[in-house]
Amino acid sequence: MFVLAAVGSAVGLGNIWRFPYITGENGGGAFVVVYLVCIAAVGIPVMMAEVLLGRQGRQSPINTMRSLARRSKASQGWSLIGWMGALGGFLILSYYSVVAGWALYYVYLMAGGTFVGADGAAAGAAFDAFLANPGLLVGFHTLFMAITIFIVGAGVVSGLERAIRWFMPLLFVLLGVLLLYGATSGGFAEGFSFMFSWNWEQLTAEGVLEALGHAFFTLSVGMGAIMAYGSYMPSNTSIPSAVLMIGVLDTVVAIAAGLAIFAIVFANGLEPGEGPGLLFVTVPIAFGNMALGVLFGTLFFVLVTFAAVTSAISIVEPAMAFAVERFNAKRWHVAFLLGIVCWILGLGTVFSFNAWADLHIVGEMTFFDFFDFVTQKVMLPLGGLLIAVFTAWVLPKKIVQAQLKLPGGRPVEVLWEVLIRVVAPLGVLAVFGYTLYHFFFG
Ligand code: PFF
Repeated sequence: MFVLAAVGSAVGLGNIWRFPYITGENGGGAFVVVYLVCIAAVGIPVMMAEVLLGRQGRQSPINTMRSLARRSKASQGWSLIGWMGALGGFLILSYYSVVAGWALYYVYLMAGGTFVGADGAAAGAAFDAFLANPGLLVGFHTLFMAITIFIVGAGVVSGLERAIRWFMPLLFVLLGVLLLYGATSGGFAEGFSFMFSWNWEQLTAEGVLEALGHAFFTLSVGMGAIMAYGSYMPSNTSIPSAVLMIGVLDTVVAIAAGLAIFAIVFANGLEPGEGPGLLFVTVPIAFGNMALGVLFGTLFFVLVTFAAVTSAISIVEPAMAFAVERFNAKRWHVAFLLGIVCWILGLGTVFSFNAWADLHIVGEMTFFDFFDFVTQKVMLPLGGLLIAVFTAWVLPKKIVQAQLKLPGGRPVEVLWEVLIRVVAPLGVLAVFGYTLYHFFFG
């Protein structure tokens, strides 16, 4: 159950929507390599650390960090990890819900046959018209948020987790269909080389931070979500093998989505750096032009929405667990309150794509850009850094070893120590430093 829930949390819009579009914006190639290195060398070790903290503490992330800090005779300030995660959850869910609303609307469009025979221009126009309609965006943002509140409030989470067993393989099948379409579309080779060629010139300091932040985002690591799930994990389940499996599955989904989408991009002369709309202008073309496309396309966006729901419920879990624990609050009340706050914050993202597109709240950033920046590029990497440092340098080594039970003897142990003590913390610090340097000195 833990693995199912964690896969549900990890696989979501981050893989299918965000990964392809940021890869496109960052010129492909080197960006994907940096992302894969971040997943393997930083994301996976920090995920193991986060799960083990959760399982050792067995409370909400805030109280887990408090009690583990006490046991380690360290400052209560470490509970900052939990607080930052709870706050980050609000910010992330606000825009996550808006984009999940896009997927929900596309279920409707696909089922109605809107994209039958569509080309790039038609798909682009449909998406632009949708973005220009704040009422419609708010409507689907509201619908998605209502679904999330209902599931979280009613606590039907475990039923949902059982459903993941069926939905995940289906998602793989449909990504396979998309890939097959991509492979025959004439754009596959170009898409493949776009993703895996070695173009370092394209890579910027900001791009490296993006890759690192996205590695955390896509694995749901750095804000306590996976820590909260870890607190429900049975003590006899192996953390290393569970985490490795989650990491591999998550990466496979992202790469498959990327390959399919870039094949469609190049076969249709579209722009890889199109931005947040990339998924919504490419995938409809594919389903619009294949046999059974209406059925497959509808199902595809149902699955994307489902993947988004199973991630959304994990995003609120740190705050939910704390409220229930600390105030003995009813799940319904907390779900409602959380949902309303995130819904209101989400309006900022809705209007970033139309009425407030020119409203720059910091520098050149719209509301959406700002929430995205603060969560992915600041809070998650910072949370990940603190989790790594706490686990590696503060928590008694006995506890870590008893929780992890690394297989493979001494070499694996050394690898773990090097990654969690040195590579992960220094990696995050180096990327932060490099970005700040470029920010101030060009
Ligand atoms: N991992 C999710 C995705 O890739 O869509 C997003 C996410 C879930 C981020 C939970 C953060 C989190 F705590």
